[in-house]
Amino acid sequence: MNRIEFAHLPTPIQHLTRLEAKLGGPKLYIKRDDLTGLSFGGNKTRKLEFVIADVLQKKADVVITEGGIQSNHVRQTAAVCAKFGLECLLILSPGQTETPPSGNLFLNELFGARVLFCDHDQREALVADELKKIQGLGKLGYVIPMGASNPIGAMAYDLAFKEMLSQDSGFDWIVLASGSGGTQAGLEYAAARSNWHGSIYGVSILFSHADMVKRIQGIMEGMQTINGETIEQMPKQLIVDERFLGAGYGVMGKLESDAIRLFAQTEGILLDPVYTGRAAGAMLQLIREGFFKSKQRVLFWHTGGTPALFCEKYRADLLA
Ligand SMILES: Cc1ncc(COP(=O)(O)O)c(C=O)c1O
Repeated sequence: MNRIEFAHLPTPIQHLTRLEAKLGGPKLYIKRDDLTGLSFGGNKTRKLEFVIADVLQKKADVVITEGGIQSNHVRQTAAVCAKFGLECLLILSPGQTETPPSGNLFLNELFGARVLFCDHDQREALVADELKKIQGLGKLGYVIPMGASNPIGAMAYDLAFKEMLSQDSGFDWIVLASGSGGTQAGLEYAAARSNWHGSIYGVSILFSHADMVKRIQGIMEGMQTINGETIEQMPKQLIVDERFLGAGYGVMGKLESDAIRLFAQTEGILLDPVYTGRAAGAMLQLIREGFFKSKQRVLFWHTGGTPALFCEKYRADLLA
């Protein structure tokens, strides 16, 4: 599989000693994929190492991708396009820009990407229309799906899992935010092929359990096809918790804001209001419920998202 290396790897694994002491166990660690380097980092930077290699191999001129208004994937794609001199078109929903743009939206503009806005249900049609227009101009367009969550992008988390094993293979649990599913798919794929004894706990950020499992399995099947393997090697049961969808995607509640403040004030680590704040809030609730045994070692996989912290709409609640 082609890959162009630009992420800052390996990302560190750190022991969250103050948080662990405050909670009274289990043993808590963090994998800092918020430090992958490109434009404030995040999990998409790893995936884009593989996807951009494919873009360049196909000699595309324009990259088109889509996401929510404060998408971290979109921001990292805009940065990587700037880095490789590719035109970048971003299709965002819902509706229209903020004035002035904040967080990821501000950064997209700074990276020189062209941005179009539409309703959620018009996104796919707009991507197809714009691709046609680009082709009409005699250019080659390349569409990266939401979250770069296709089998090519997910290969990055096969590699990331192996990176973790080489740093520390003794974790009992990995906890992470699952959005479009590529990150969990890559980790599950690698875990199923290793002799790691632990389990992966996905916290769904926007889809139901059934939808999320379908997405993850679909990506894993695609990974198997790329690697020419058989379906029997798939893990039988995926853990995806749908209890933390709250008031919806991007709506920060007490679960998220409490977790963000706790990580900031005990460890000096920033989480984000949409993904890692929700996944960390879920992990804290699981700890309070006694889900993890006190001697178990739990790795919270930080997947990035920091710029969304600077989005105006979250500020007042975070400081409350
Ligand atoms: C900060 C952050 N964490 C987690 C995710 C979820 O990753 P995935 O889409 O691979 O499930 C995303 C993107 O969707 C994200 O931006």
